[in-house]
Amino acid sequence: MQESNTSKRKKDHIELCLSDNVAFKTKTNGFENYEFEHFAITEVEFDKIDLSTVFLKKKINYPFLISCMTGGTEEAENINEKLAVVANELQIPIGVGSQRQALEDKKYHSSYRVVRKNAGKVPVLGNIGAAQVAKSKKIIDDIRLLIDLVEADAMVIHVNPLQELLQAEGEPEFKGLVKNIEKICSKIKTPMIVKEVGSGISKKAAKRLLEAGVKGIDVSGAGGTSWAAVELIRSNKADSYFQEWGLSTSYCVRKVKELKKDFNFTLISSGGISNGVDIAKSIALGADVTASARIILQEVMKNDINYVVHLIQSWFLTVRRILYLTGCKDINNFKKVGLIRKEEMY
Ligand SMILES: Cc1cc2nc3c(=O)[nH]c(=O)nc-3n(C[C@H](O)[C@H](O)[C@H](O)COP(=O)(O)O)c2cc1C
Repeated sequence: MQESNTSKRKKDHIELCLSDNVAFKTKTNGFENYEFEHFAITEVEFDKIDLSTVFLKKKINYPFLISCMTGGTEEAENINEKLAVVANELQIPIGVGSQRQALEDKKYHSSYRVVRKNAGKVPVLGNIGAAQVAKSKKIIDDIRLLIDLVEADAMVIHVNPLQELLQAEGEPEFKGLVKNIEKICSKIKTPMIVKEVGSGISKKAAKRLLEAGVKGIDVSGAGGTSWAAVELIRSNKADSYFQEWGLSTSYCVRKVKELKKDFNFTLISSGGISNGVDIAKSIALGADVTASARIILQEVMKNDINYVVHLIQSWFLTVRRILYLTGCKDINNFKKVGLIRKEEMY
C-alpha cells in the first residue's frame, strides 16, 4: 500500500529533528536571564526532598512529561514503545504525536496503542492539530475515537499557525477553532490541554482558551525546536526572520501564570527544556509541570532506554540540589520561591 502524505510527513519530521539544524539559532528560551535566590540557612533534609506532584489526578514522580511527538508511521511504533517504557520506568506522563493519521485509516493504529500498552498507568495524552479541530464536521466523534485509541487521561490540541503557514502542504485555516474547542470542552469529560509547538502561547490567547473550558496550557515557547526551520528545510527554502519567530518559553510561563488568580488550570512549560536548571526555573516561575520533545527523541534514538532514564534522573538530581539550596522541601513549596532577574544582581 502507498504511504499516505501524513505518514511521509511524519517520517520527514523525525529525520530532520535528529539533527540540530532545526533549533532556534539566536532566540533562547530566556531562562538564562534568571537566577535562584540562594538560601544560606537551609534546614531542608536533602534525602527527604519530595519531587513528586499530581498531574491529571495521578501522582507522578517528577513534574515532567515526554511531550507529544509521534505516531502514524511504521518507525513511530518502535519510538513510541521506547518512550512509553521510559515514562513507565520513571512514572511520568507521556503524550503521543498527532493522531490525524489515525482518523484517515487504521493502518498505523498500533503505533499509538503501543503507548498505553507500555506506559502502564501513567497519564497518557492524546493529540490532534488545530486545523483538524477547526474544520471537522464530526469533531466530537473524532476526539472520542482518539481518546479511546490511547486510553487518554487528557487530549491535547496543538495550535501551530506558523508551521501550517510555512509547510508546503500546510493548512493555515483555523476559522472556527475556538468555537469548536468550546464545544469539545462542553461535551467531552476528558480534560483538554492546548499546546503550541515552539512559538509560545501568549496570556491573551491563554485567557480565551481557558474561557472556552480548556484545563491545561502547554506554552511550548521559542528557544528549542523551530518548526519554521523544520518546514523551511523540508521545502529547501530559507527565511531567517520566521525561523526565529515566537515568544520565549520563560516569557510565556511568566505571563500565562498571571491567569492563575482567575482560572484553575495546569500550566506546562516546554520549548527548549533540556536540563535540570531549565526545569527548576520553569517551576519557580510558575509552571506546574515541564516537558521536552526533541532532545528526548534524539537520546532515545541514539542510546538504550536505561541511558535515557538515567539522563532524566540526573536532571532531577540537579532539581533536588536547587530545592535544597533554596530551602524548599517539595514542589509545592518550590513553586512559591520565585526567581531573581539577573540585572537585579548587579
Ligand atoms: C519529531 C517531533 C514531532 C512532533 N510532533 C508533534 C505533534 O504531532 N503534536 C504536537 O503537539 N507537537 C509535536 N511536536 C512538538 C513538541 O511537542 C514540542 O512542542 C516542540 O518540539 C518544542 O519542544 P522542544 O524544544 O523540547 O522540542 C513534535 C516535536 C518533535 C521533535
